[in-house]
Amino acid sequence: MSATIEALHPAHGVPPSGPRPDETARLEDFGGIEIADLDLSQPLTEAQRDRLLRTFRSHPVLVFRDQALTKDQQYAFTLNFGEIEGAHVNRLIDAKNYTPVHTVSNLDSDGNPSEILRERGNYYWHSDKSYHAVPSLMTMLHAVELPPKGGETQFANTAKAYAALPAEARGELEGLRANHSWEASRIQCGGRPATPEQIAERPPVDHPLVRIHPDTGAKALYLGNHASHIVGWPVADGQALLRRMIQHVQQPEFVYTHRWRQGDLVLWDNRCSVHRALPHEAMGVHRRVLHRTVVKGSVPY
Ligand code: OGA
Ligand code: MN
Repeated sequence: MSATIEALHPAHGVPPSGPRPDETARLEDFGGIEIADLDLSQPLTEAQRDRLLRTFRSHPVLVFRDQALTKDQQYAFTLNFGEIEGAHVNRLIDAKNYTPVHTVSNLDSDGNPSEILRERGNYYWHSDKSYHAVPSLMTMLHAVELPPKGGETQFANTAKAYAALPAEARGELEGLRANHSWEASRIQCGGRPATPEQIAERPPVDHPLVRIHPDTGAKALYLGNHASHIVGWPVADGQALLRRMIQHVQQPEFVYTHRWRQGDLVLWDNRCSVHRALPHEAMGVHRRVLHRTVVKGSVPY
């Protein structure tokens, strides 16, 4: 596999240059929030923690600037949100990176920047680990090394996108379940097919296409690159519906594009958003490395 992500998926171009809109306003329009007054390297007081968790319930993306956390500090901060997933998604591909605080990067197994990505699925809209019966609740990335141009992370608010559907369309989605699998995900992003061992480790699962946020009761579309078809429907019809719904959620009014700065820490709620990385310029030359932690979720309903 030698094609770059950009060649395979031209829709993933770098966003247009020009005057930047006010990013904080964009984040707030999207439904996220920037939190300025916390030093995340230090333990939170109970009041700070309560406020943070309350904020997270009503904002699918939280952005913190100017942080400098060691891996241990990121681990400790992540624990505020729940149980940390011990396993990295790529245990069978990248055993070295199988730790609670792992990295996402464009580095190859020798540690050199590469255009041939092991984690190419990150460049397609998805909700983390939706191919698990118990998918991820929250994911946190902390910028470590950033490329000069590109490499943004985009988020789409799937609760807003659901609410914006006409009542009739919402009615048609009621009760539908989508089948999610790691294998389908790999096929859909043009990756190497899963081995029998990998398929056995992650058998396909199905989840409601419209998911209820357990804390707020808000409904959100639950879909993305790991979802392949609709249970009980002809495969092609289900694929077409999922494609239409992804087209819907990625409309600009539901999307926030995070342009990483040194020191940024961003965390998101996988229950009511999907996300993807955008390629960066000269990926074979410039490094992009972020530290990542993930909090375990619950069975979607
Ligand atoms: C992830 C992910 C996107 C990015 O870490 O789950 O999808 O921009 N990352 O690196
Ligand atoms: Mn992801």
